[in-house]
Amino acid sequence: MKNQENSPENPPRIFGVKDIAESTSKTPTAIMGIPQHGKTTLAKWIVAELIKMKNVKVRIFDSSLQWIFNTPVDYVFHVPEPIKTLIDEDGKTVIIYSDIFSIAPHIVKDLLSYDNIAINFANINDFDYERELMSKLILHDKNQLVSEVMNNKGEIINRVVYIFEESQTTVGSNVMRRKEMAFLSKAVSTGANWGLSFLIVTRRAGEVSTKIFEHTVTKCVTNSTQPNCLKKMSRIFPKNSVAKLKTLGVGEFLVLTPKGVFDLKTEKYPKGKHAKIIDIVIPKKKGFWGRLKDKLFR
Ligand SMILES: Nc1ncnc2c1ncn2[C@@H]1O[C@H](COP(=O)(O)OP(=O)(O)OP(=O)(O)O)[C@@H](O)[C@H]1O
Ligand SMILES: [Mg+2]
Repeated sequence: MKNQENSPENPPRIFGVKDIAESTSKTPTAIMGIPQHGKTTLAKWIVAELIKMKNVKVRIFDSSLQWIFNTPVDYVFHVPEPIKTLIDEDGKTVIIYSDIFSIAPHIVKDLLSYDNIAINFANINDFDYERELMSKLILHDKNQLVSEVMNNKGEIINRVVYIFEESQTTVGSNVMRRKEMAFLSKAVSTGANWGLSFLIVTRRAGEVSTKIFEHTVTKCVTNSTQPNCLKKMSRIFPKNSVAKLKTLGVGEFLVLTPKGVFDLKTEKYPKGKHAKIIDIVIPKKKGFWGRLKDKLFR
């Protein structure tokens, strides 16, 4: 690892995973690059450091089962598939929707009772539920952190870092509604003022909302041969670095920071620790429709 802007008076300073974790605890970071190049592995090393820090909590949004095995977190919450079922009753067709929206307060309460968690969503094509829960948790954390800052005359005591895996599916410019975009981009751009930060992981940097992406202060990029991603990178990386981005191997990153561009080589994440999986339980509903839904959800 070396600082490309070093000089005899300014000796190279290593910018490693610990430094990235330190900056991620305070300001947003992005990890980008093509599939299977070590993005999640780097994110796990960063999260392992964040967890060691005093007064930092992590909340990981994952729908790709990447944080259950060989993971730094102790618990993974599993949110079930939102069920939409067609039932033929007395010749009538009835559509039953999952009540996952209405149970969100119950889920939020459960999730907030843990310090460091990953949340796994079973949904494969509908990320509205994920954004709904994401926004609710962020809002809760924001209110909590802001009140602490106000009571302590501006001093930030506790921090919460949100990690968005495959973030193009949740904070992609094509998938968010305007209100969600306004809320999430504001959280990312202003969260540092009260102790909220983000780690945005994506294999499709070109699709992540620019409003969110432009507020990431540290950018860790591995191989980026995709035209959309390269285009975005060529706007932010110095010219001599862009060509290098096409040659990076697994676990090799260029890290763009306010202090310059650094090389980073990670190691494989150690095998072993698996998280405990906690299934979200859907509460029983009253009445005929409730009993029907309970039957379906059983
Ligand atoms: N530094 C490294 N050295 C050796 N192998 C590594 C390193 N980092 C990651 N790997 C291996 O490369 C594979 C992909 O790693 P990882 O899942 O972190 O990539 P990814 O970029 O998140 O992939 P995807 O885009 O599919 O989510 C895994 O088998 C992992 O063990
Ligand atoms: Mg990954």
